[in-house]
Amino acid sequence: MYKWTMSVLIGIACVVGITVLFMTTKQEASAPALPDTPLNSQAAEAIYKQSCIACHGNDLEGKIGPNLQKIGGKYSDKQLYGIVQNGRGGMPAFKSTLKDEEIVNLAKWLAEKQ
Ligand code: HEC
Repeated sequence: MYKWTMSVLIGIACVVGITVLFMTTKQEASAPALPDTPLNSQAAEAIYKQSCIACHGNDLEGKIGPNLQKIGGKYSDKQLYGIVQNGRGGMPAFKSTLKDEEIVNLAKWLAEKQ
């Protein structure tokens, strides 16, 4: 009887362990770190002028969208990448307009604005 209870408990522990392991791995996969490419400020400014200036202003001072002059103090490059990729509220999503590496570069450029 004791043996039987023990094997059931060990069985449950295994299932729980595997589930936790699976959930942690899955979470990491859904939030990958940004690729370690060096920042190209010139390219970022060009994309900003082309895609963001209308709403965020010539000097990131804000217009329709908020001021981005100190945005790096508010968000990490990863968070900025998410905002630009998916949009938020009145902010459009850019994942179908810009290339992934362009959004990564833009996020790194904005993250330096502190
Ligand atoms: C059509 C106008 C528009 C365009 C174009 C636009 N944005 Fe925005 N953006 C907004 C608005 C509006 C918000 C505020 C969103 C909200 O309500 O949370 C915003 C918010 C943001 C935020 C978060 C600001 C904060 O303080 O939370 C970032 C970062 C940002 N935009 C970056 C960009 C970048 C980079 C581009 C160009 C790729 C861009 N935006 C293009 C309108 C725009």
